[in-house]
Amino acid sequence: MTSVQTPDGLPAAKATTVADALGRPLHDLRISLLDQCNLRCPYCMPESEFHSDYEFLRKQQRLTYDEIIQVVRVATGLGVGKIRLTGGEPLLDKNIAELIGRLTDLPLVKDLAMTTNGMLLATAAPKLAKAGLHRVTVSLDSLDDGVFSHMSGGRGDVSKVLAGIRAAEDAGLDPIKINVVVQRGVNDHTIIDLLEYFRGTGHIVRLIEFMDVGNRNGWRMDQVMPSRKVLELVEQRWPLQAMDKNYTGEVARRYKYVDGEGEIGFISSVTEPFCGNCSRARLSADGMLYTCLFATHGTDLREPLRNGADDNELRDILSQIWLQRADRYSELRQPDLAEAHILRKVEMYRIGG
Ligand code: GTP
Ligand code: 5AD
Ligand code: SF4
Ligand code: SF4
Repeated sequence: MTSVQTPDGLPAAKATTVADALGRPLHDLRISLLDQCNLRCPYCMPESEFHSDYEFLRKQQRLTYDEIIQVVRVATGLGVGKIRLTGGEPLLDKNIAELIGRLTDLPLVKDLAMTTNGMLLATAAPKLAKAGLHRVTVSLDSLDDGVFSHMSGGRGDVSKVLAGIRAAEDAGLDPIKINVVVQRGVNDHTIIDLLEYFRGTGHIVRLIEFMDVGNRNGWRMDQVMPSRKVLELVEQRWPLQAMDKNYTGEVARRYKYVDGEGEIGFISSVTEPFCGNCSRARLSADGMLYTCLFATHGTDLREPLRNGADDNELRDILSQIWLQRADRYSELRQPDLAEAHILRKVEMYRIGG
């Protein structure tokens, strides 16, 4: 571990950095607030598995806000500056503004973002902004009603999500990013329309390769459209120019339209893995800490939290987890995708993307 020094040479308040077994620092913490969602995207929570009698976590199984705040306080002391709230669908947590307010009070939280499906965003956006949320990323796979309906398990409504994005814009929750999971033969024919809609708005569309997260989404390599192909498709319409990364470890490769109409990104975990700079830890709603999106196991933080662990004890637990971390799933799966597919992995709706 290395102490962080302020410019005048004094140690910064409680800030210490920790590097994993591959030398990667801990910068981001992604917090899944609950495992429930109002959509049933087949690539994440297929309706056939997540039906009306599916048992989601009960409230007492989920971390309380006090517990979340303690984890974040300790994590920021180890180098985390970026927090992303996810789910499931985080806006199903009716008290989320209270949590946001408490997170923004933590001095080392520099970037507080949320990933949402946008269905409840139109009404929530003003209160989220007022509570101190910095920005939102909205998942929206297509503007075509039929395609979006299919990709949200029959529950999504394009006009509601677009109203949510407009409300987020009005509330100043920017830069707004739009996450699009590209599935070959499902929504690839609607990408150009979607890009056309958002060009010139300042919102950044990110085209994501369909990933083999979890074991329940029926992932098949032939449904992955490599980013290189999507890029070719987009360039046939609008010339693009590569841009530099905003920060080390950024997952999206950035491009701008040569005609000045904005930026788009490609997230290519399957064909161009980016584990080398991965600085993300993930906390599930029931308090499991995972160090990879494709993890097969995690560490239970809820038990020590409920047994009264103080910040020092929790800090030892977190730093030990991170020091031992050697995950690089996406890089390792390259040689043998078939093998990787049979591991028992944590599901996306529990770990939050
Ligand atoms: P910014 O902070 O805005 O740069 O966002 P981000 O890069 O943290 O991206 P976001 O949370 O929106 O992630 C977009 C998508 O990228 C996720 O939904 C995942 O599909 C994928 N993704 C994010 N992090 C990882 C990761 O660590 N590994 C892999 N394989 N995919 C990731
Ligand atoms: N592959 C790629 N992205 C996925 N997401 C959910 N499941 C997958 C998958 N299998 C994305 C969603 C959302 C974020 C939470 O993760 O579209 O943007
Ligand atoms: Fe819900 Fe997001 Fe999963 Fe779709 S991808 S089911 S919106 S958590
Ligand atoms: Fe990080 Fe795991 Fe994704 Fe690699 S596969 S970038 S280690 S979360």
